[in-house]
Amino acid sequence: MTRSASNPGALHSRQHSEQGPQVVRYHTLSSGPLNFAKAGAGRIEFRAERVVIRRTLDAVREMIAPQAEEKALRLDFPDVSQELCAVADEDRTRQILLNLLADALKFTGAGGLIALEAIGIAGEVRIPMRDTGIGISAAKLEQIFEPFVQAERALRPSDQGVGLGLAISRQLARAMGGNLRVKSELGAGSTFTLILPRCPL
Ligand SMILES: Nc1ncnc2c1ncn2[C@@H]1O[C@H](COP(=O)(O)OP(=O)(O)OP(=O)(O)O)[C@@H](O)[C@H]1O
Ligand SMILES: [Mg+2]
Repeated sequence: MTRSASNPGALHSRQHSEQGPQVVRYHTLSSGPLNFAKAGAGRIEFRAERVVIRRTLDAVREMIAPQAEEKALRLDFPDVSQELCAVADEDRTRQILLNLLADALKFTGAGGLIALEAIGIAGEVRIPMRDTGIGISAAKLEQIFEPFVQAERALRPSDQGVGLGLAISRQLARAMGGNLRVKSELGAGSTFTLILPRCPL
């Protein structure tokens, strides 16, 4: 399996293995938040494997369903074809989606909606996650991907985080050759879109 990382901040080397999926080593720049998160480890290993999107979405849905129910939030997950597949690291992909879902749960009031889609467009898999929560002002929209930046306080004090989830998630997505984008309007909700390289057809 071959792949390329489009992120100029992540250099990588490959290691070929007879057995399992290829291991790709990414050397992140020293200023990246992941280096902080990994306490200076400076090197994160990713697997470049076939990630069946449907299986990943089923797994994260099962993990967050109890919290959504507890908060009276509706989860709308798509009926994705078994064929839709990304070349990525399955664990990291799940981690990104769980970070995004944790935020959606935190910033959406009771009775709200969290809706996912999964679309294959040319060489990309796009997974937009929309919530009907408090939204983010235009002024804060790009800053929230910086480490420790928070726009608003969580609706419940016990949900208060530190401001690292999005910084880590975007860096992980970019290191896998994808991206993480946001659109939002204060008071009207947010859509975070995870983009990953699609499996060759
Ligand atoms: N779905 C969302 N709706 C509204 N605001 C959001 C949403 N997701 C993120 N934000 C804003 O972006 C900020 C940064 O998010 P991020 O996930 O990096 O940190 P956090 O959730 O505050 O803490 P952590 O993820 O480290 O527990 C949040 O504090 C919040 O202000
Ligand atoms: Mg978060």
